[in-house]
Amino acid sequence: MKNFGPAILLVILYIGSAHSQSIKSSLNPTFDSKVDSILRLMTLDEKVGQMNQYNGFWEVTGPVPKEGDAAVKYEQLRKGLVGSMLNVTGVENVRAVQKIAVEDTRLGIPLIIGYDVVHGYKTISPIPLAEAASWDLEAIRKSAEVAAEEAAAAGINWTFAPMVDISRDARWGRVMEGAGEDPFLGSRIAYARVKGFQGDDLKAVNTIAATAKHFAGYGFSESGRDYNTVDVGTSTLYNDILPPFEAALEADVKTFMNSFNLLNGIPATGSSFLQREILKEKWAFKGFMVSDWGSIGEMIPHGFAKDGMQAAELAANAGSDMDMESRLYVEHLTALVQSGKVKESVIDDAVRRILTVKYELGLFDDPYKYCDEDREKAVTGRQDFQDAVLDMAKKSVVLLKNEKQLLPLRKSGMKIALIGQLAGDKDSPLGSWRALGEPNSAVSVLEGMNAFPGNSLEYVEGVKFTEGTPGFAFETKINTTDRSGFEAAKNAARNADVVVMVLGEHGFQSGEGRSRTELGLPGLQQELLEEVYKVNPNIVLVLMNGRPLIIDWAVEKIPGILVGWHLGTQSGNALAQVLYGDYNPSGKLPMSFPKNVGQIPVYYNYKATGRPTNPGSDLVFWSHYMDSPNEPMYPFGYGLSYTSFEYSNLKLSSDGFAKDGSITVSIDLKNKGSVTGIETVQLYIRDLFASVVRPVRELKDFQQVELKAGESKTLSFQITEKSIGFYNNDGKWIVEHGDFKVFVGGSSQASLEKDFKFLEK
Ligand code: BGC
Repeated sequence: MKNFGPAILLVILYIGSAHSQSIKSSLNPTFDSKVDSILRLMTLDEKVGQMNQYNGFWEVTGPVPKEGDAAVKYEQLRKGLVGSMLNVTGVENVRAVQKIAVEDTRLGIPLIIGYDVVHGYKTISPIPLAEAASWDLEAIRKSAEVAAEEAAAAGINWTFAPMVDISRDARWGRVMEGAGEDPFLGSRIAYARVKGFQGDDLKAVNTIAATAKHFAGYGFSESGRDYNTVDVGTSTLYNDILPPFEAALEADVKTFMNSFNLLNGIPATGSSFLQREILKEKWAFKGFMVSDWGSIGEMIPHGFAKDGMQAAELAANAGSDMDMESRLYVEHLTALVQSGKVKESVIDDAVRRILTVKYELGLFDDPYKYCDEDREKAVTGRQDFQDAVLDMAKKSVVLLKNEKQLLPLRKSGMKIALIGQLAGDKDSPLGSWRALGEPNSAVSVLEGMNAFPGNSLEYVEGVKFTEGTPGFAFETKINTTDRSGFEAAKNAARNADVVVMVLGEHGFQSGEGRSRTELGLPGLQQELLEEVYKVNPNIVLVLMNGRPLIIDWAVEKIPGILVGWHLGTQSGNALAQVLYGDYNPSGKLPMSFPKNVGQIPVYYNYKATGRPTNPGSDLVFWSHYMDSPNEPMYPFGYGLSYTSFEYSNLKLSSDGFAKDGSITVSIDLKNKGSVTGIETVQLYIRDLFASVVRPVRELKDFQQVELKAGESKTLSFQITEKSIGFYNNDGKWIVEHGDFKVFVGGSSQASLEKDFKFLEK
């Protein structure tokens, strides 16, 4: 055993797993003072070590600056120069690294173990964009809770989720990871996800710390190209980008992650405006900020820092508390403090934040609390997790079109042709942030439909649109020449009453680094669809997609279209149950589906131009395209059901309200069809004129209601100052008097409207 000084020994006794209650209670009772007492005993190197996070050698999610240096990392771990590791998974592995931190280092400070538990750990739920389509906050919270419990049982205590980046650009592959284009829906979902991961008790063994990422602006990468520059005005920053982060904070999120992008010329990682002024000062965030993978080092190629030393200085001073894999803090921060370029108080603040989260997780009470093999075995893949992700998956499906009453499918007496490589694919539904989801572990659509044996089902791939197996680390080649499967597909279709075609993107076509400029059906899938249509137009198109796709031809010709996203482990069961009507689809698009790539960014809450409408003559001088409508193919909030809903009787309790007052909005909703259905009733507001122009519509509230066939219900909403206020260009929340409109309906194109005023008293 090493020769520890008495004070240090006390700390070891205090923070180690076996220390006695009397020692604990003789020390300062609050986190703050506990953390301070540790901080006082730490050397500068040890403090800097807490700010250093290493990848765990087994999995890599970005470029590794120095290869082959596991030995160096282990040595630093032993010296107490590592505060956290990511991508170390499974109780055995986590215990191994934790043991080094706790038993071999001078102070025995436990590691916090991070991992991208984005939509499940082993039991995979739908991709976050799909979950957002459910608008079901409780199901979304539950999905995060399941992910947290399964990950926590495998040694993880910190997830790099939720991603709360608003994005209006379907070219950006990471839209799959967020909640879509709207800040209100995005905020509600951010809150639900943080609550799901963290629960009410962060010390419990089935909850983990969450991360609101990527702070900030990452979803606005120019031209939808990942990691690209972001230039946005303050109105967009304050009203669209930041609100979901604030909502995560309201849910008490413990950590934030900064982002790769420049924001108006300053890398987010080096931005004290974002990290200090807004997050830590204005919002009084007490947790810590982790950099994105290597983003501190990336300030050099950005042209912001001249070398690693300066990058470390800029990032630390700007408020990035932990360095994920740039390895620049551990290399330079001690020297930077010694030379006075970084104040020791900056280091102390960062370390205090990191240690506090470790305390809150209970890691100082028991560093191995997440390391229980029996629990890992008992919890992984539990049946109730399967039930929860199936429920989530069904709720995520969006019905875009249902002509000729093709859906739901009859359960017997039909011949069905099932066509498409993706219909048999057990891997793609897991998506590209599948954590430790086993490859090929999803229920395919084929398997899901086979669970309904009343019809005769013939499955043909039709075309292999990918050549080779899609994978995480390399680009899959798309087949653009081999049509040899077309004939078999056409034959199957010819003999069928209904054709179900599962087409779209493979599981690694969206996600990080997966930006695309063409958003149609990849490869020969569109051609196959058109060929099959010629022999049998009774087609239900099931999309598998990680982003909005361009499906203009299909929308014109194909009678039934479902958005099936990448729905996770239970994908095929969910889709089959929707196809057969055991679940009546209730999803609503969280992101507009464009008509063509040229419209992007296309989103519902745009601001009006000075020339918004056609002047009615043949003049071209209004804001439009010569070759495309302005409107998307399907707007935000859109989604059908097997029943139909009628909205009527929009009423306001008054046509004006003043400070501290409110208006009650009521609406009658009737289920006009013959089956029970769930509708998401959406309330939008327009501020007709303001000191900073407001969007043509903004979602301000929504309610989900289930109605039996023929049933009606009156729903009511409150309009308050919160519904009509906004951030001005200085980031100040203001509420202005004036004229407003409220719209209520089943999508962002809701047609029932009323006027109201916000009055001066
Ligand atoms: C991503 C983050 C992720 C991190 C760790 C980065 O490339 O941008 O979202 O949490 O890797 O895997």
